[in-house]
Amino acid sequence: MDYQKIITEVYSEVKSEENKGKIPDYIPEIANISAEKFGVSFTDLNHHSFGFGDFEEKFSIQSISKVFALSFVYEKLGEELWHRVDVEPSGNPFNSLVQLEADKGIPRNPFINAGALVICDILLEICSNPKEELLSYIRNLSEEEDINFNEKVAASEMQNSFRNTAMCNFMKSFGNIRNKPDAVIELYCHLCAIEMTCKQLSKSFLYLANEGEKPSNMAQILSPSKVKRVNAILLTCGFYDESGEFSFRVGLPGKSGVGGGIIAIYPHHYCIAVWSPKLNAKGNSYRGMKLLEEFTTQTGESIF
Ligand code: DON
Repeated sequence: MDYQKIITEVYSEVKSEENKGKIPDYIPEIANISAEKFGVSFTDLNHHSFGFGDFEEKFSIQSISKVFALSFVYEKLGEELWHRVDVEPSGNPFNSLVQLEADKGIPRNPFINAGALVICDILLEICSNPKEELLSYIRNLSEEEDINFNEKVAASEMQNSFRNTAMCNFMKSFGNIRNKPDAVIELYCHLCAIEMTCKQLSKSFLYLANEGEKPSNMAQILSPSKVKRVNAILLTCGFYDESGEFSFRVGLPGKSGVGGGIIAIYPHHYCIAVWSPKLNAKGNSYRGMKLLEEFTTQTGESIF
């Protein structure tokens, strides 16, 4: 399969079409990004890697980092983790509070904000310096040292965290947040403010395509059974109330972020990362979804 040729074609096809959607304005620091940024990067298990467009430019990976945080915590806590966060699609927007009362403060899954806040709470419990430990986890996966938080984005998000703060306090009333809500929010906003390129993302997530093993040095990041489960949650919950649509149109486990990034995994083969800042009505990158849909249509490869 000539992936490079297919991606060249789908990239220019999607780029030539109207760029629909909207850049979110609720985090002022990311609202100013050019709507025309568009990058894609492909890396396979043999480290054959290539990209197009703005694939070497850093952007705010936002909720994509929830996958790193989940992997980190799951490896340390094991199945005990699922007592505090469930594995069901929510069918609701990422920042919704509606199900938390009926579910007694247990978030439906680790990728909605409520779930990621519980993961951050656990990070505060198990790490002496969660921010540094998380960064070094990602630096190890990407094999690059210059991966950092954008402090301006984190601060900007902290000033606009009213819903997340409400969620955190609500879960604390059920006993499912154990640290001070302010500390959980501070860590969560930093998690969302990590900056990476498409190239770094497509390399970093290879462990999810390789039964938990980092291909460059065979280090076991997660067990094969845990990777199967993380990929299952990505497929069913990675795009919030558009997870069914992504699965239907693309057919790969993946994760989006409001910075316009999307990563998708083809187990046993490769990882592909796309970035285009304009989002559709459900908060997922318009061009990112379009490119991945065209890509899996052309390759005929999906997990189904
Ligand atoms: O919690 C928030 O509002 C965001 N900073 C993170 C959300 C996000 O990326 C959800 N995405 N698709």
